[in-house]
Amino acid sequence: MFIKKVTLKDFRNYRQQTVELDPGLNIFAGENASGKTNFAESIYFAALGKSPRTNHSKEMINWSAKQAYINLTVGKKFRDHEITLLVDNKDKKKLLLDGLPCSRISDLVGVLNVVYFSPDELKMIKDGPQERRRFIDISLCQQSKNYLYSLQKYNNVLAQRNKLLKSGFGINTLKETLFVWDAQLAKYGSYIIKKRYDFIEKLKNLAFESHNKLSGEKEKLSLSYECALGYDDEENLQREFAESLKSAFEKDTELNFTTFGCHRDDMDITVDGIDVRKYGSQGQQRSAALSLKFAEIDLFGEETGEKPVLLLDDVLSELDENRRARLIEMSSSLQTIITCTEFDEKVDHTLFKVSNGTVKKA
Ligand SMILES: Nc1ncnc2c1ncn2[C@@H]1O[C@H](COP(=O)(O)OP(=O)(O)OP(=O)(O)O)[C@@H](O)[C@H]1O
Ligand SMILES: [Mg+2]
Repeated sequence: MFIKKVTLKDFRNYRQQTVELDPGLNIFAGENASGKTNFAESIYFAALGKSPRTNHSKEMINWSAKQAYINLTVGKKFRDHEITLLVDNKDKKKLLLDGLPCSRISDLVGVLNVVYFSPDELKMIKDGPQERRRFIDISLCQQSKNYLYSLQKYNNVLAQRNKLLKSGFGINTLKETLFVWDAQLAKYGSYIIKKRYDFIEKLKNLAFESHNKLSGEKEKLSLSYECALGYDDEENLQREFAESLKSAFEKDTELNFTTFGCHRDDMDITVDGIDVRKYGSQGQQRSAALSLKFAEIDLFGEETGEKPVLLLDDVLSELDENRRARLIEMSSSLQTIITCTEFDEKVDHTLFKVSNGTVKKA
């Protein structure tokens, strides 16, 4: 799939802008604070219904306006699709697909898939388990509405359960009331765990391959899902999940939060058997992150039959020559949008100059 056209109105520092993109390599070059990341953000927003930078959508509205608007045309195998998103100053979002209003932002799922990479994404390697779950969840949510739905449900139930645990009710009352939430948590949680296991199993081989290439066949990358429950079918997982919640009851009431569940899981990333999070060099960590992203691209291609759009914000300058070359070679088979201050690679591309909230094709 590829993005044909993007129109922004009062989105960050853009007042009114239309950009027609090339199906190949698109370079957005400009000085600091010109609007490059803002442009990348608008595309991410159109794909996922949220910003990679903030949970407050209204921050994306231009400071002198009351509403931000983004309209984007995606070319796909069988037909084009048009995404329109509006954000108002009460943080409300409105979505139209092919001109028709949608009641849920989740209707966006699958219309436009992006794989996004920015220097911030290194967090996925360096920081706590939450960042790795975020990576897995964003990827799975783009592939499956059902996953998104289950994750939302799980998080809601979890919040309710934690609220009860903090409410100060006695043990007996808690025993009776938690029971209702536990069944739901186990239902959605087991589905999530199964999906994550399957996802990481597929991603593992693809990430191994890309890391192998990226490191000049020197390093072996391995992934595994770190979950308190071993791999099993959904039914067994659901049963084990419910039992584990029961066993954790005393601990939960003591600590006043839910200590068991897939909200605590992690993904182990090792290079040559060494935990890359703790012991990896900067370069190894960056390569591992990049390998995961490449694997994600391949997986999207396999799962949906269409390659996603690759969005690289400000990452070229951080890579050595070999990795840069590999990245560019890799991106030749899909639409790629790269932001940078300067571009001097010898490769076919369409250049856009960004300055002060305007984009001009060079
Ligand atoms: N809601 C908003 N309304 C108007 N301007 C905004 C808004 N949010 C951010 N900006 C401004 O947009 C400008 C461009 O930001 P952006 O992050 O896109 O820069 P950039 O081109 O990626 O720069 P760098 O090379 O430093 O990463 C910044 O000066 C920022 O202050
Ligand atoms: Mg930037």
